[in-house]
Amino acid sequence: MLLSPVNFRNLSLKNRIVWLPIVSWLAEDDGFVTDAVIERYSRRAEGGVGMVVIEATGVLDRRSPKLIKICDDKYMPGLEKLVQAIHDAGAKVSVQLIHYAKKSKKTGWKQKVEDLSPEDIRQVKKEYVEAAIRAKKVGFDAIELHVAHSYTLASFVSLLNKRQDEYGRDIWGRSKIVLEIMEMIREKVGDDYAVCARISGEEFVKGGNTLKQTRVISRLMAGKGLDYLSVSAGGKDEDGDWYTGYSSTRSMPTANLTDGCHVYLAEALREEMAPYGVPVIASGKINTLKQAEEILAGGQADLIGVARPLLADPDWILKLKENKEDELVTCTYCNTCLDRDRRFEPVECIEAEKKIRKEARMA
Ligand SMILES: Cc1cc2nc3c(=O)[nH]c(=O)nc-3n(C[C@H](O)[C@H](O)[C@H](O)COP(=O)(O)O)c2cc1C
Repeated sequence: MLLSPVNFRNLSLKNRIVWLPIVSWLAEDDGFVTDAVIERYSRRAEGGVGMVVIEATGVLDRRSPKLIKICDDKYMPGLEKLVQAIHDAGAKVSVQLIHYAKKSKKTGWKQKVEDLSPEDIRQVKKEYVEAAIRAKKVGFDAIELHVAHSYTLASFVSLLNKRQDEYGRDIWGRSKIVLEIMEMIREKVGDDYAVCARISGEEFVKGGNTLKQTRVISRLMAGKGLDYLSVSAGGKDEDGDWYTGYSSTRSMPTANLTDGCHVYLAEALREEMAPYGVPVIASGKINTLKQAEEILAGGQADLIGVARPLLADPDWILKLKENKEDELVTCTYCNTCLDRDRRFEPVECIEAEKKIRKEARMA
């Protein structure tokens, strides 16, 4: 089942394996796509995944060096080259669209959703819609709204959003901005284009969303014509600096957590998505084809998301399919990649680097 094709909306995937978004910090300082970005994604496409999801890509013009951007037409030629390379290598490609709050590195101050004025909210919506239009124009097969972890849309849908106006108060208010963005994007991209989202199934932070809330939010999104739901977890920085607290440990699950630790979240949300026919992507420490196959056979998800194992070894699928485990660079979930991410350094796998050094020594 895992390696069989699947179709939804405008997407025909050759199999059900998805390379999940991993920020690479390989773009230029001002957000332009580089050859290194193209190599990173086309190499995973060559490795045989059905779809890659491009890392969090900025819909707004706010300083964040080396984050890929889609907030202006000037980024389109580079993005078009990226899409073309992935298509040529045989995979479909979705792009994760991110909006993030203002932050002060010096003082640690972070803007909250409660600080946004009605005009700021109009601007966030506008930036999302314009980014989606560009994404479709350059050939991305789908867009994925980043409604997970600590970013703007996730902060709106969270129980921690204490706004007392129409964008807060209750679950409909907290979801309103996402639903409006979905409606506005659909109006612009038409019916034959996949509009998707990533959500933290549980936020794993005191006072934050659990499945009780995310079941409802996911249903509301499905009602607006959602095309896939990618299920992540945690990632809130309310309990620690950027990607340091327990909630973050869950979003990039560490070695001590069990394999497939978040499949139960995908399974629960899949129950909600079933009446709408929205496919669900499971993620979190899924690291063998056998495990992936069992998740699909058990009806727990429709698609299998893999992040770090494919960062470690782009030929993960091929080597597992051909029982060449001894040749595989295995992800140990040490999160050295995450440490690099937090230092804004190019995100590479230390196990892969060790292998290259060893081979060089032996040559
Ligand atoms: C260094 C790093 C960067 C990540 N960047 C993103 C991102 O841009 N967007 C996102 O939704 N998730 C991001 N994630 C989370 C992954 O997509 C994935 O959900 C998580 O690593 C669990 O999957 P895995 O166990 O297969 O690695 C990142 C993870 C890591 C380790």
